[in-house]
Amino acid sequence: MPTALLAAGAELAGLLEEVSRVRRAEPRDDLTTALALAEVDGERLSDAEIASFFILLCVAGNETTRNAISHGLIALTDHPDQREIWQADPTGVTRTAVEEIVRWATPVTWMRRTATRDVQLAGVDLHRDDKLLLFYCSANRDEAVFADPYRFDVCRAPNPHLGFGGAGPHFCLGAHLARREISVMWRELLRRVPDIRAVGEPKRLVSSFINGIKAVDCDFAVANR
Ligand code: HEM
Repeated sequence: MPTALLAAGAELAGLLEEVSRVRRAEPRDDLTTALALAEVDGERLSDAEIASFFILLCVAGNETTRNAISHGLIALTDHPDQREIWQADPTGVTRTAVEEIVRWATPVTWMRRTATRDVQLAGVDLHRDDKLLLFYCSANRDEAVFADPYRFDVCRAPNPHLGFGGAGPHFCLGAHLARREISVMWRELLRRVPDIRAVGEPKRLVSSFINGIKAVDCDFAVANR
């Protein structure tokens, strides 16, 4: 299985390297051309860099948003009162509900950083070049920041969660797209299959990095179109 995964990744990277070469020769009005021709301080991305950026976009855009939506289904199943609140006012509640789903799910569990200088953080001495992990799941349940952090509250405001990372240059590039995708998916689910609920135990992804759900059964009455 890992071999198949690596082979698929290599094939995808090869495909993108090829597309990138073609776009440099024949520019078009598309994202790959923009990436292939972009220059910062006179430097361009190599074909291999564009290929790995594309794979990053595919993985970062997939493994996160769809897991947030699945966690949302489980959360709304476990908290029917919150579903009622959202259903009663979709326009008013969607924005805060989506942020709460991302906080609750925290689809990316951690990222690693390297200290660039000696610093003290929350009473702990860190030294330059120390490696450390930022546990977003912990930050998103921080009782010093969130009132009643273990309560799923679709109206939570403010909601300064770190599900998309902390402020700074690495803040999630796709946060706006992700918010839009989760909003649209839930708007349509609540409209077409308003009673949809998760049934049984979800099959979870075995990973410390992604809080993923491989599969979860669901049940709903006849769909509205
Ligand atoms: C609910 C959905 C999503 C969550 C929870 C999420 C979470 C994150 C987190 C925690 C980071 C790391 C921030 C850091 O290192 O400080 C990140 C980075 C990133 N995300 Fe997302 N993400 C989501 C959706 C997306 C989507 C839809 C895309 C693109 C289509 C995307 C593209 C990226 C990229 C390219 C980075 C790297 C940014 C950088 O290091 O400069 N993400 N995301």
